[in-house]
Amino acid sequence: MSNSKTQTIIPLTQLDAVGKPIGQANGMPGAAYTSEALFNFERDQLIGNTWAGLAFASELVAKGSLMPIDFMGLPLIMTRDRHDQIHVFHNVCSHRGMTLVSEAKSQTRGISCPYHSWYYDLSGNLKSTPFIGGVDINEVEGFSCEDNGLMSVRSHIWMGIVFINLSGAAEDFADYIGPLEKRWAEFAGADGLAQLQAPVDDASMEIKVQSNWKLAVENYCEAYHLPWVHPSLNTYSPLDQHYNIVAAENMSGQGSYVYILSEVAGTELPQFADWPQEKLRHAEYISLYPNVLLGLQVDHAFAMILQPQAAGSTVEKLQLYYVGDESLDQAYQGCRSAVLKSWRQVFSEDIFAVEGMQNARRSPGFKGGVFSPVMDVPSHHFHQWVAQGYSAGTV
Ligand code: FES
Ligand SMILES: [Fe+2]
Repeated sequence: MSNSKTQTIIPLTQLDAVGKPIGQANGMPGAAYTSEALFNFERDQLIGNTWAGLAFASELVAKGSLMPIDFMGLPLIMTRDRHDQIHVFHNVCSHRGMTLVSEAKSQTRGISCPYHSWYYDLSGNLKSTPFIGGVDINEVEGFSCEDNGLMSVRSHIWMGIVFINLSGAAEDFADYIGPLEKRWAEFAGADGLAQLQAPVDDASMEIKVQSNWKLAVENYCEAYHLPWVHPSLNTYSPLDQHYNIVAAENMSGQGSYVYILSEVAGTELPQFADWPQEKLRHAEYISLYPNVLLGLQVDHAFAMILQPQAAGSTVEKLQLYYVGDESLDQAYQGCRSAVLKSWRQVFSEDIFAVEGMQNARRSPGFKGGVFSPVMDVPSHHFHQWVAQGYSAGTV
């Protein structure tokens, strides 16, 4: 879709209104959340041009495993090869374009196309082409397997998250993630995030919401709704102890000075060794645009990947992480369960909010809404990022 088509769905005047200073700005109009045509444009431009969260590396535990993933309608495959390396490919055979993989597999050496049986290894190399030169002739002059491997998707793993860049032309991942790593080095230490471990059990959950992915981002950015939507969380991390975060062009969120789940739930998990003693109760919640929501506390972290399914439907996948190998011990299982339970409650409480906003975005009475110049700074920042992406979109 072209830039002009985007602007048919969302007139330029409305994008301009989003870009105004927060006190005079409107938000993105309803069509940004309900249009399927815009959804495809977002995949190919807004999201496709940058790094986006695809899956957790922990979803493929063993060497020699693979799974198909549908990313906003694009068929992809994620593999973990025999060298323990994760790869992402387009799920399409180089021969006649058959879908290669339709279900997850483990203990496998490669991928055999169900149509004419061409065979690829898990690193994407085409290894055999049965009968390509006639019955029982598996080679043919002028055809090289090297030139016909799987189509690779640029990927990078960070904090256990498999990020992809569909266009292949985004900035280096290090530049994309740099501002966040720098910010969180103050808490976790210079390479502290590398200590994080993802337990196999009791550390993940999935929620399907009838909502556009952007509403999940916006809702996560702000603490404003805390007293009304999260009364329990508000008792140990009240709204007046929060601050806004606008850390870089591609991220915003909120922080708390007084997060004390460990005291409320009686958990005693290992903590980051370098975390400043005077900030033990600090916690930060940052939306890393476009679709990864991150949380950091002294004794655990989490990441949520938003998998947009359609304009009005999103799957939210959460993974919890703890500090150091010791945190995975059986002795901490009760603590880990308590942490998961608390986040399950918080994220479940948000469902009605994002679904309620989605429902009302079909209303002609909604023109994009307005922002609190104090409380909605992080969400407005995200709206501006989206508006800029829409404006910059080209064929
Ligand atoms: S389409 Fe895959 S082998 Fe022919
Ligand atoms: Fe919330």
